[in-house]
Amino acid sequence: MTAIETLRRILFAAMLAGCPLACASGDVIDLRSVGRVHGDATAGKAKATVCSACHGPAGVALVPTFPNLAGQNAQYVYWRLVAFKRGVDPDSPMTAQAASLDDVAMRDLAAYFASLPPAAGHATDDATMAGATIYRDGDPARGIPPCQGCHGSDARGRTDVDRNGHARLYPALRGQHAPYVANRLADLARDAAPRTSTQHVMAPIARTLDAASADAIGRWLEAGAP
Ligand code: HEC
Ligand code: HEC
Repeated sequence: MTAIETLRRILFAAMLAGCPLACASGDVIDLRSVGRVHGDATAGKAKATVCSACHGPAGVALVPTFPNLAGQNAQYVYWRLVAFKRGVDPDSPMTAQAASLDDVAMRDLAAYFASLPPAAGHATDDATMAGATIYRDGDPARGIPPCQGCHGSDARGRTDVDRNGHARLYPALRGQHAPYVANRLADLARDAAPRTSTQHVMAPIARTLDAASADAIGRWLEAGAP
């Protein structure tokens, strides 16, 4: 199977897994036809003081298990906040944080964090370059699709809209902390009942990665990717 065929199969499987649930129960947040998110980055900066305790004053978290938000796709940030506010993950510290945010605040915060430069990279070594190969080419023998197909060849995610005006919610991964990446991939892989259509896309992909591969990809991303 070629890498592109693997990707097509995963997309199709995700669609089958995601759609009937999304359409039937109302339990899954269906993000397949949402529009572009607009917010005021300057207003968002003023509202981000509380966030900086955990996500860092410039959106780069000091604790490596906490995610950087600097340079993240605004559409992805906004919908993650909406999902936390709707209680998709009651155990997350973000559930309490999102509870007090109104819709305008979530849009403004998303615009602000998207406007910040992503975390600076550092030197790579052989271990990190192993992650680059999987990121670019996947591993057809193990059913791993190329990550760049959705997260971009530069790992900055995709912020455009498709020809129907539907927003793409592929997060930026460049500069993200390796321990956060590994933990989030493990969470996605474990989650038997994802609560958003986007998690339904990523969960089966996360399941194709063993811990060593997830770690190598994370280290390469943290080093600053391509
Ligand atoms: C007490 C610490 C803490 C505070 C304060 C906090 N966060 Fe978080 N945030 C986290 C942790 C830990 C995660 C990752 C865990 C998870 O996904 O459940 C996270 C995840 C996120 C994510 C998802 C990131 C991704 O890459 O998927 C977004 C978006 C986010 N936070 C935005 C905010 C915003 C906006 C604020 C301020 C209003 C804020 N956070 C305040 C700890 C915090
Ligand atoms: C078919 C498209 C697609 C492919 C291919 C893909 N992803 Fe994703 N990925 C997504 C989507 C959509 C999300 C957003 C999930 C959500 O809403 O939480 C995501 C989320 C993630 C996250 C969580 C980011 C964060 O900030 O919390 C990580 C890490 C990730 N992907 C890594 C990978 C890796 C590594 C690969 C390659 C092995 C890969 N992805 C391939 C679509 C894809």
